[in-house]
Amino acid sequence: MGVNVWLKDQLKSTDHSKSLPLLSSTTSQGRRLSHRGMLRALQERPLLLVPIAGILAISLWTLLAPWGCHDSVKGHCKRAGAVSTQPSRPAFLPSWFNASCPLEYERIPYSEMLEGKARPYLLGEQQRPRCANCAKDELWSHFCQYKSHGPACSQYDQDTLFETLRSRAERGAAGMRKLMELTPCDIFPYLRGRTIWLVGDSMMQEFMRAFQCFMYEFWDLEVRELSDLLTDEEVKSKLMGGWCVIMPENTRICHVRSNMADHLVKNLMPVREGMGMRRSDIMLVNVAVWLNSEKTLRTEISMWVDYYTRHKKQLPFVIWRDASVQHFNTPTGDYKCDGCPDAQPRADDKGFSCKPMSSVTLLPDNSLHTDDPAMRVIVEGGWRNKLTLPQIEKLGIPIVHTWNHSVPLWEYHHGFQEKDDCTHWCHPSGYQIWISQLYQVLREQVHALPPVQATARATNL
Ligand SMILES: *[C@@H]1O[C@H](CO)[C@@H](O)[C@H](O)[C@H]1NC(C)=O
Ligand SMILES: *[C@@H]1O[C@H](CO)[C@@H](O)[C@H](O)[C@H]1NC(C)=O
Repeated sequence: MGVNVWLKDQLKSTDHSKSLPLLSSTTSQGRRLSHRGMLRALQERPLLLVPIAGILAISLWTLLAPWGCHDSVKGHCKRAGAVSTQPSRPAFLPSWFNASCPLEYERIPYSEMLEGKARPYLLGEQQRPRCANCAKDELWSHFCQYKSHGPACSQYDQDTLFETLRSRAERGAAGMRKLMELTPCDIFPYLRGRTIWLVGDSMMQEFMRAFQCFMYEFWDLEVRELSDLLTDEEVKSKLMGGWCVIMPENTRICHVRSNMADHLVKNLMPVREGMGMRRSDIMLVNVAVWLNSEKTLRTEISMWVDYYTRHKKQLPFVIWRDASVQHFNTPTGDYKCDGCPDAQPRADDKGFSCKPMSSVTLLPDNSLHTDDPAMRVIVEGGWRNKLTLPQIEKLGIPIVHTWNHSVPLWEYHHGFQEKDDCTHWCHPSGYQIWISQLYQVLREQVHALPPVQATARATNL
């Protein structure tokens, strides 16, 4: 209770867009360092115009210290046998698929959420029947419950989002109840024994934060800078930044920064093995939102198409994420698009306060509708996706479609650091919805996912 009041005061009294609440000084040296790294990362301003080499938390922890189930969460974690009893699995599963989960996560019934007695895990609800990391007075624990720190949405925004999801679910919107009832143990079996690499720009970085937060009871609340996990100097020199969290059973989530296909194809992919990427891993990629000109985007996407075509047999399982929606005060919300007829900035170029796309509606079947001819491009997925997705589809790469769900989420930009940033959101909002979209794709692709051998799972990373 006391903590809650304190956090609220912090949220009220600090200019949330400029600074972050300070941390308790009682934390250990190691944690303080790590916090400082995190704060720096959160304060970095991911303006799309400024290339940023994301430098993240410096961990003092031993690199390969496995997440110790027994000593970290005494008795709160069942190594085996904590199989989710709820239905949410494809009917026929490949033999490698093992539905067990290292933690026990009770499903929160939708009815309880409808009565307002609980919120979805995606929105920061604590693990049931009991939780461990959630009780720690520690940065990631606070942030992952969206109580404070960094780009956490205000309580008002969180209430609005919850109401929005609930009313969509009540109106029978496809997949909405499932989204609200999703547990981290639904996703873990698809990741077991693999690393899921989230490769892309600052939007992917925010997605990483959302994803690692959804799974925050599975790791030790220490993020490891990717370069600290590597020894090869040449490999390190190719990195623009990234970090990993280490979960049980040789399972990791890693973010790798790459703003452009050019960097991805020429620098990162050639050293992927040195980075620790394996064929059995999963790589979620997106590079589009940095590119504001149609010509550059065309060049970039063809580089990726060419690279993928030549190397797909050696790559991890690739999933593409579509380009994300922007809500700038321009006709179509785009930041700018030089020479791109669908998305001209206003003549006075003052398009820097976010605005809703009031003439576009997200229907219960998750399709978009508009009567406004100028917004047809939005209904069709935005100019970037119109250009890139057909090519990605042709390659047979599965796509996480986030666009439609993101269109209504214009009001969650203001909680981010920059007032005029209508690209990134505060948490929880769009990114958390994307997690459920990613889960859908993993389910659909379960037969295409490369198997993970039990022996690989048993070997330390
Ligand atoms: C599933 O994974 C758990 C944890 O690694 C293991 O104990 C169990 O034996 C596995 N089940 C099967 C059927 O492989
Ligand atoms: C998004 O909306 C468009 C336009 O209504 C629709 O064609 C498309 O299928 C929708 N996409 C998804 C993934 O629901």
